Amino acid sequence: MSTGERPDVDPVTGHPAAIVYQDVWKAFGPHQILRGLDLVVPRGRVTVIIGRSGTGKSVTIKHVMGLLRPDKGRIWVGDDELTAMSDRELRRVRLRFGIVFQQAALFDSMDVFDNIAFPLREHERLKEAQVRERVMALIAQVGLRGSERKVPSELSGGMRKRAGLARALVRSPEFLLYDEPTTGLDPILTAAMDKLIADTDAAHPDLTSLVISHDMHAVLSIAHKIVMLNEGVVVHEGTPDYFTSSDDPLIRQFLAGSLDGPMKV
Ligand SMILES: Nc1ncnc2c1ncn2[C@@H]1O[C@H](COP(=O)(O)OP(=O)(O)O)[C@@H](O)[C@H]1O
Ligand SMILES: [Mg+2]
Repeated sequence: MSTGERPDVDPVTGHPAAIVYQDVWKAFGPHQILRGLDLVVPRGRVTVIIGRSGTGKSVTIKHVMGLLRPDKGRIWVGDDELTAMSDRELRRVRLRFGIVFQQAALFDSMDVFDNIAFPLREHERLKEAQVRERVMALIAQVGLRGSERKVPSELSGGMRKRAGLARALVRSPEFLLYDEPTTGLDPILTAAMDKLIADTDAAHPDLTSLVISHDMHAVLSIAHKIVMLNEGVVVHEGTPDYFTSSDDPLIRQFLAGSLDGPMKV
């Protein structure tokens, strides 16, 4: 397996490349979604992907988890090239990821503790005391102390998101993916979730986070790197400063949430 062409460093942050997409193409029937996507996700940083609905953001992260395979192009997770892997190998790669879903996707019948413990009990052979230690540490970290015996129906939306985040972190993943973590939350819960993403990043220096968001406030406050997708390619990438100081009409329209500009509704 050749990894010779894989970039070693992210040009935006100067950090080592953790995930690399190289000229990735994907169509569903006649619908071409990704059209030569090139993307470097830096290790230990927070990268946020922005772009209109339907532009291929979720499709992009499904590729890195091996849930979709590209029609053309290459994808590396660390030194592993996914495009060369069997389904069985891809399942192993998937275990290196934690995922925070838009709907927290908790098990209704299990309390908070058991929901968070589930991936540990499923994938690792730990003594119950070790499970307890890890789960309780995460419960404290995400601010759910005292709620461990509640079931999801007894929790607020924000608390369910926290439980979902703790579950995503419980196996100490190398990568944490968030697909629109604040969609459907009110502004206060959105700010709380943004803070949680930033705090999680600060608490886990080696963790590589990839966030999909259209909440521009969050993007500018939590991202080390922002990538703007449009029609299946990266049209802009840079630091939050690059985006806020840009005169580019597409960036200005997106930041302003405006109907006027190059993006048509
Ligand atoms: N499994 C699939 N089969 C067919 N079409 C799909 C599939 N997944 C996504 N699409 C289509 O690809 C486009 C991009 O989807 P998606 O990546 O989910 O957009 P978003 O940027 O909003 O996350 C959409 O038009 C969607 O309908
Ligand atoms: Mg999506």
